[in-house]
Amino acid sequence: MLETLPIASWTGPYAPEIKARALAGLEGGAVLFFPNLAFALAEKEKQFLDARVSDGKAKNISLDPSGKLQSTALTGKSAKDLAAMMARFADSTSSLVAGLLPYRDIERARTSYRPVQVKGRSQSKISDDRLLHVDAFPSRPMRGRRILRFFANVAPTSPRHWHVGEPFEDFARTFLPRVGPHMPGKSWLFDKLGVTRGRRSLYDELMLSLHDTAKLDDAFQKNSPHQKVAFPPGSCWMVFTDMVLHAAMGGEFALEQTFHLDVEQMAQPERAPIKVLERLSGKSLA
Ligand SMILES: [Fe+2]
Repeated sequence: MLETLPIASWTGPYAPEIKARALAGLEGGAVLFFPNLAFALAEKEKQFLDARVSDGKAKNISLDPSGKLQSTALTGKSAKDLAAMMARFADSTSSLVAGLLPYRDIERARTSYRPVQVKGRSQSKISDDRLLHVDAFPSRPMRGRRILRFFANVAPTSPRHWHVGEPFEDFARTFLPRVGPHMPGKSWLFDKLGVTRGRRSLYDELMLSLHDTAKLDDAFQKNSPHQKVAFPPGSCWMVFTDMVLHAAMGGEFALEQTFHLDVEQMAQPERAPIKVLERLSGKSLA
């Protein structure tokens, strides 16, 4: 479930044996864990280790690839410095991914900073990431494209606690028969109304249903097999979050970088959630 890699640098070249373990682990549904890789903050960036840098509304502060910073209470020079820290994290993770993985066409998406303690945050079940789930974006249709996420725990002392659940196929076999029927016309309407950026595919509808149904199922949350993981301060991890069931249980001050890639980029495309769901449902989903 955890593939531990002894990498200590953001730039390659990395040993072929390490690259092979990274690729097989990632596509096989493991969390790649980098205990010796820290994202170090500059002295002036340590002011951002404060929950008040968040605007208190959204869960995360985000920086999109165009440089737009959202959901921070900071303004002026401080906001600029925070954006620069997040952009430096995006550059570092992009360099590592380019050196470690064979994906030649990978899209650098949003960067997020998560300064608020996870434990004790109150929110609806659907948006509560302390419940086991696979990632699916309500407003951004993926049509089968993968969601790869790289995390760094930049907290000075507290570990980030996760639960990691059962393999995707086991999860999908349980929940597929329970998700509601597809409503023809809804994806078209959401696109027209601007609720989504582009039209949702059947795959997107299914993934959103799986996400919601799993979070709303108290018995599943309580009884489904899962392992506890603690990512120490100064460590990093990377995972396909559209495939690996995960829940963030506690911790503060994490940075996250999202990447997207087409299934065809994978060494084992048949492992992709869309391929698994197509095989189980007997339908073409995108
Ligand atoms: Fe998630």
